[in-house]
Amino acid sequence: KRIIRVALSQSEEHPEYKGMETFKKYVEEKLGDKYEVQLYPNELLGGQTKAIELTQTGAIDFTIAGTPNLEIFADVYEVFSMPYLFTSEDAYFAAMNDTDYMNKIYASTEDTGLQVVTWYNVGTRNFYAKKAINTPDDLKGLKMRVQQSPASIKMCNAFGAAASPMSFGEVYTEIQQGVIDGAENNELALTNNKHGEVAKYYSYNKHQMVPDMLVGNLKFLESLSPEEYQVFKDAAALSTEVEMAEWDKCVDEAKDIAQNQMGVEFIDVDVDAFKQKVLPLHEQMLKENPKIVDVYNHIQEINEKAKEGK
Ligand code: GCU
Repeated sequence: KRIIRVALSQSEEHPEYKGMETFKKYVEEKLGDKYEVQLYPNELLGGQTKAIELTQTGAIDFTIAGTPNLEIFADVYEVFSMPYLFTSEDAYFAAMNDTDYMNKIYASTEDTGLQVVTWYNVGTRNFYAKKAINTPDDLKGLKMRVQQSPASIKMCNAFGAAASPMSFGEVYTEIQQGVIDGAENNELALTNNKHGEVAKYYSYNKHQMVPDMLVGNLKFLESLSPEEYQVFKDAAALSTEVEMAEWDKCVDEAKDIAQNQMGVEFIDVDVDAFKQKVLPLHEQMLKENPKIVDVYNHIQEINEKAKEGK
């Protein structure tokens, strides 16, 4: 049998792993005489940049990576790292579910041997640290971990913090040892990845909604018959459905555990103050990277429509 290897950063408890269990089950039910799907969670095969490279060379077949980690493979993905790109969750979902438009973005990694197959919702990213962040000024001078993404580094520095890019798996120890002061992520990082043990203040400044992507090796996908390809596409779509349903359950649970068992304090902040600090970055990024202009404008239209409730 041909072994299909899938690398994930997340643990077996994460919604994405549950989604990929469904992917595995579906593919094996339909094509089990030919394929066996093996899942490698917890960055077992390396951090996301490494896992994308392994997917690119065909050493493995799929990986799940956040769009920030795809920026160095196709810089159009920088758009998703723009702080406050989406003005509401509705707009975010409308944009990501606009498959015809998104397929154009997904195709952008093809010349690097990669194809994006589906996306996963991983909530909203917020800052968390060893000390409370109440206003943008509190970020001044803090060393904050960001993903290995040019746009995330710009974003973090625009907030006045000092961006410290590294892979996800390194963050816990670096906060614990005081090499960095904190990081930014969704609530599951506090529990699933235990960051709440070492960073006790989580501020709802809501700077990004960045999706995760299922990225496949293009050659492998192109080698499939149309029927087989459809099975993999359907399996991917199913994995997204499962992931999203799980996600909604997991966020509330994570918040509860972080607050009541880990002693993390959740702080509501004046989001607008944080927004004003970094909005000039939009103009700057649009100037520096013409490839994001079209998708940026498209998302602004979606933001407007979502506001009008259309
Ligand atoms: C989230 C996201 C991952 C990403 C991680 C990170 O957990 O789902 O894809 O790797 O953040 O900050 O590195």
